[in-house]
Amino acid sequence: MSAPATSLPERRTFAIISHPDAGKTTLTEKLLLFGGAIHTAGEVRARGQARRARSDWMKIEQARGISVTSSVMTFQRGATVFNLLDTPGHEDFSEDTYRTLTAVDSAVMVIDAARGIEAQTRKLFEVCRLRDVPILTFINKVDREGRDPFSLLDEISDMLALDVAPLNWPAGMGGEFKGLYDLYNYNFLKPDGTATGAAGATVATSGLDDPMIDDLCGPIAARLREQAELALGGYATLDPQLYRQGALTPVLFGSALKDFGVEALIDALAAYAPAPRPQPALVAGHAGTVDPGDAQVSGFVFKVQANMNPQHRDRIAFLRLASGRFRRGMKLRQVATGKVIAINSPILFFAQDREIADEAWPGDIIGIPNHGVLRVGDSLVEKDDVTFTGIPNFAPEILRRVALKDPTKSKQLRTALTDMAEEGVTQLFKPSIGSQWIVGVVGQLQLEVLISRLDAEYRVAADFEASPYETARWLHGEAGDLKRFADEHRGAMAEDRDGAPVFMARDNWELNYVSQRETALRFSATRERA
Ligand code: G4P
Repeated sequence: MSAPATSLPERRTFAIISHPDAGKTTLTEKLLLFGGAIHTAGEVRARGQARRARSDWMKIEQARGISVTSSVMTFQRGATVFNLLDTPGHEDFSEDTYRTLTAVDSAVMVIDAARGIEAQTRKLFEVCRLRDVPILTFINKVDREGRDPFSLLDEISDMLALDVAPLNWPAGMGGEFKGLYDLYNYNFLKPDGTATGAAGATVATSGLDDPMIDDLCGPIAARLREQAELALGGYATLDPQLYRQGALTPVLFGSALKDFGVEALIDALAAYAPAPRPQPALVAGHAGTVDPGDAQVSGFVFKVQANMNPQHRDRIAFLRLASGRFRRGMKLRQVATGKVIAINSPILFFAQDREIADEAWPGDIIGIPNHGVLRVGDSLVEKDDVTFTGIPNFAPEILRRVALKDPTKSKQLRTALTDMAEEGVTQLFKPSIGSQWIVGVVGQLQLEVLISRLDAEYRVAADFEASPYETARWLHGEAGDLKRFADEHRGAMAEDRDGAPVFMARDNWELNYVSQRETALRFSATRERA
């Protein structure tokens, strides 16, 4: 491809993965605070609530106290710009969560020191591993009684099959907590001495033997020395290369609430986390990658979100820039349709305040307001023929038949379902036999969002009836084999909204049975948009 752009500002585009309650919201606030993006902690939550109050369809979010939609937050520290992509951390997975992880270069895994690795952390970790997304671990809440640090590190190492490299070590936890010792530069971060127990000054020491450690840690100085020595000897040392390959996780202990370890985390991201990586793509029809240094502007849509205002049908497409220097007013081509779109009012996300972007660089996310033209998985390019790969649709785990309560609303229903399928809220399947659409979702919550929005935005009352099918797979193979299979299984065949053939199975047993016998076809749990 063409000549590289002149200067690439340092970018770190990352997400935080965690189990609910581990402290993701608190850590996000503190990252923004230390990154200078907001001025008082608590604003992320407060602003979130103000936004929610404005939007009808987010009632579910309020009722369940969770954030259904992801957002993008940008902050800067020193010469580095950080783009933090929020992933909803609730029990039910949405496809949004998965896809957001396709748009980051690294992830921070937050673990509660009292609980260790929990179910959701593990699932999200697996998604990161699929894409070799490097992970930095933050063991949170050391200001409270927690598990033994060694058992936490061993658990990470065993359960996730990763080498762990602790960067700092807690001097005690809970009531005994005296501060954090940096294993690499020997600094000691101590509490500020007030009743809140927040982080105070950093004291430089000459190492574990420094008598200052006794002053700082009192009766637990000997334990800190012993544990820190053991940790240095027993675990991997930090190897940035292995971390970036996804084979090792650097670990920081800290307390998001009390500001311990937060600056160290930002510094570690700046120092070790990968800059924007080359993105897999079909370049002029051949499998390859797009390098961030390529001159042409290109990017892919990983998320589409309805406008907060239900009166307006417009949406925001979230574009991750993969290469080139984007400038406001540029015209980009939607590769799937050939349509040229002038991006006149792109949005940059600066700590949740929308700012109009004048320019953006690889790794940045820009919001593009549009009326439903842009879809998840879309590639946008300046000129060359590039289609990004790896932004999948996921096989639904819940399938429901849509039954309309008022038959005169069938057109509105169709529009609504198509709109929401395009946003990636649900998937839509048209069975080969029968006229009822089938919607597919990955988690129950997506279904609730769908029902609520049908009512609030489209004034369509619909019911979701059990469908005989529990799961679905996209079929790939030769045309002849596909036709033969479809004829044999007519009752279980459907098309997705792009016309791709889908096999619906009553349960996993049937799916396994059929797919094992049918060797000529591939049954895939994900489908990338062509
Ligand atoms: P989440 O987004 O991962 O779900 O977690 P969130 O930040 O909301 O934190 C969950 C709870 O854990 C909150 O308490 C929060 O204050 C607390 N927490 C987060 N980090 C720390 C920490 O480093 N130390 C301690 N001791 N607690 C921490 P809550 O009582 O559920 O909510 P709130 O009333 O404080 O908002």
